[in-house]
Amino acid sequence: MKQPQVYITKKIPREVIEPLEKMATVKMWDAENEKVPVQILKTEAAKSTAIFTTLDDIIDQSIIENSPQLKVIANMAVGYDNIDISTATKHSIFVCNTPDILNDTTADLAFALLMSTARRIVEGYHFVMDGCWKNWGPLLMVGRDIHHKTLGIVGMGRIGEKVAKRASGFDMEVLYHNRSRRESVEKALNTTYCSFDELLEKADFIVNLLPLTDDTKNKFNEIAFSKMKNSAIFINVGRGMSVVEEDLVQALQKGEIAGAGLDVFREEPISNQHPLLKFNQVVVVPHIGSATIETRTKMMELTVHNIVNVLQGKYPKAYVNK
Ligand code: DGY
Repeated sequence: MKQPQVYITKKIPREVIEPLEKMATVKMWDAENEKVPVQILKTEAAKSTAIFTTLDDIIDQSIIENSPQLKVIANMAVGYDNIDISTATKHSIFVCNTPDILNDTTADLAFALLMSTARRIVEGYHFVMDGCWKNWGPLLMVGRDIHHKTLGIVGMGRIGEKVAKRASGFDMEVLYHNRSRRESVEKALNTTYCSFDELLEKADFIVNLLPLTDDTKNKFNEIAFSKMKNSAIFINVGRGMSVVEEDLVQALQKGEIAGAGLDVFREEPISNQHPLLKFNQVVVVPHIGSATIETRTKMMELTVHNIVNVLQGKYPKAYVNK
């Protein structure tokens, strides 16, 4: 009997995909610095029972409807806004993700961005490297305190809980806003629920962890930034589309907020000519929320596990179809 085909859109270490190779013909796009062209992805998906995707692969209606054998789209990410879930579900295709295993790692990155922005770490590094450091000054490179400040978490899911836990070590007051109130988290992590507007007005640091949905798109816009304190620092490790970037640029220009630490952008990769990159008080990294060797290995393994289960006729470990 002909083996099923699994198509993998990125270069994944051979040892991780071994379980798949025992049961399927595995094909992989293995160019390190080039994304699989849409036409190749479409052609390969059309012949595949499973596809292993990442968050920059757009799996839309046309790809799904052109892939009659497809049983599973396994995304190596907790987010899945790159996949047309309703079309997949309509065609009885599992859409899988990699929840939980990246919570701590992503919370670490949120805090790393928060601290680097508040304490001007990147600016300080360039100051030293560029030979600008001539003497010690009482106000040289002064940043803003983190400890005993108010942190506002927008999107209190499992990553949010980990961010709140870290904040308690800094004696921060933690506010959160979420679709629904989470009393268990309030008790366990000493956090306070508040409206979006109240959070914007009160927080010194605002961390966005929202997934991308119709409701969260453009949520951080001109109005939202104007409600923040002039000393506020905005951190985004959720999705870039939640932020109207021109409005963020304006807010930074007008001094409506003090800085931003950004892992995600509307268009990724962001151009190095983007106006956001002109500000000293903006710290950027290339969507590396979950990028540690330990976590990325677990994410690849879970993605493989999800596919193996479906190929064996079982439910995947993590799937998001309703
Ligand atoms: C995800 O998994 O959705 C994250 O954005 C990766 O960092």
